[in-house]
Amino acid sequence: PANRNQILDTKNEEALLGGGAKRIAQQHKKGKLHARERVELLLDAGSFEEIGKFVMHRCKDFGLEKEYYLGDGVITGYGTIDGRLVYVFAQDFTVFGGSLSETHAEKICKIMDLAMKNGAPVIGLNDSGGARIQEGVMSLAGYADIFYRNTLASGVIPQISAIMGPCAGGAVYSPAITDFIMMVENTSYMFVTGPNVVKTVTHEDVTSEELGGAMTHATKSGVTHFVSANEVECITDIRRLLSYIPQNCEEDVPMLPYAGGDEKRVKLNSVIPDNPNQPYDMREVIDEIVDGGSFWEVHKYFAENIVVGFARLGGRSIGIVANQPAVLAGVLDIDSSTKGARFVRFCDSFNIPLLVLEDVPGFLPGTDQEWNAIITNGAKLLYAFCEATVPRVTVITRKAYGGAYDVMNSKHIGADMNYAWPSAEIAVMGAGGAAEIIFKKEIAEAADPAAKLQEKIQEYTTKFAHPYRAAHRGYVDEVIYPEQTREKLLRAFKMLENKVAILPKKKHGNIPL
Ligand code: COA
Repeated sequence: PANRNQILDTKNEEALLGGGAKRIAQQHKKGKLHARERVELLLDAGSFEEIGKFVMHRCKDFGLEKEYYLGDGVITGYGTIDGRLVYVFAQDFTVFGGSLSETHAEKICKIMDLAMKNGAPVIGLNDSGGARIQEGVMSLAGYADIFYRNTLASGVIPQISAIMGPCAGGAVYSPAITDFIMMVENTSYMFVTGPNVVKTVTHEDVTSEELGGAMTHATKSGVTHFVSANEVECITDIRRLLSYIPQNCEEDVPMLPYAGGDEKRVKLNSVIPDNPNQPYDMREVIDEIVDGGSFWEVHKYFAENIVVGFARLGGRSIGIVANQPAVLAGVLDIDSSTKGARFVRFCDSFNIPLLVLEDVPGFLPGTDQEWNAIITNGAKLLYAFCEATVPRVTVITRKAYGGAYDVMNSKHIGADMNYAWPSAEIAVMGAGGAAEIIFKKEIAEAADPAAKLQEKIQEYTTKFAHPYRAAHRGYVDEVIYPEQTREKLLRAFKMLENKVAILPKKKHGNIPL
């Protein structure tokens, strides 16, 4: 028996070393942690249970029949984060560059299947040179097995992908299907084809970082939802993200204990500038409304004319979608529509109530927007709100113009409670534009056209640049003083906590993609 234990001891020690001490040192030299260190940091201390530690590849080609590492380049298992069950896989770059073999994929699929059966999130820590080149199609089959599971798991359990090294070629499509991607600055990159192929095909000179680094995907493509300065920060972010999300689609949203207190927020009374064309930062409004310091932005650097993120209201986790008047006057465009739509759909999948803060002058005009399909893309946000069955509350702080008024969680498309501040203007467009169109002839024929225009603007303003027409119709449930907003929302979300809304029976809808 002593001998038997010795064999196990040796194997355990060998497995811990991955591709060997030298390669681990190289990994550290690049500013990266080893896969095991990442798992240790991610999970509650001592909670990790490894699955498939001694798994080895079955490849007999290109010299691999002489090279084996226990675990085959991915560490898989389960553990807890803040006491809640999670499944995790961490690719080990020290073993064949973290490349994905048939068995490596089987290990990942095994924990995904367990996660689905047991209703808990899957976290993938990606650091891989892609398909195990020596294995050919077996490796590609492994990827497809993962993609298939990612898709079936979508909307059932939360899936989070952290990119902590290379993620290239087909490998990008597993993270892409998951709910959130996180990237680490300077040490991670994602692309379908790398700089060398790009150079050959399009003759562009581009570095890996420019092509697919963290900030590129945070600002230009929107592929990543979060960026972190280093791996430790990234792992802290994963833990924080999970704190807002239920374990699966059947669970209620997490609640923190909340004692209550003075809910009046007088600062909100002076947020809106006197001049309706002057910007203000919607984040200031959010921070005043939600529990102190709880707002956490998603997609912070992408399409900044809309702000989305998680927060807590009286301890309850909520999702916020807010127009941002400080950027492009808060206009809706292609990127902000897709950003908003994706977030709304995530929240709806996982029972997270939605709060919309609205100050929107309309959709962005221009050939760029029209030719790149603002029609289809704007429709995504509209569709996402229409089909969301979670509690939905809107507060119109200022402008709610045109089609954008309908899109931004209006009463007509199923919002449960709609509030407006006295500064709200709910109309087809701004008074200036409206007067110019509908009184065009009258203005042209006037003795003093400029004075006539002013008179007509005033007339339109008096009729529409306020929330009362909408309130008379019941499109707005209540016009409230800004300082009351937090209290009203606390009560509204409490009132809506048992909401049941069922969509018509269907296979699935056909969101405009
Ligand atoms: N299959 C098998 N082994 C791989 C691999 C792959 N896809 N990618 C990397 N490796 C191995 C390397 O052979 C090397 O092995 P060694 O430690 O025994 O020398 C080890 O992983 C580390 O790779 P290395 O190239 O030294 O690391 P790097 O940091 O300089 O470069 C990459 C990383 C990912 C840019 C580079 O390895 C690469 O281009 N890999 C191939 C990417 C690819 O085309 N994948 C297939 C398409 S999906």
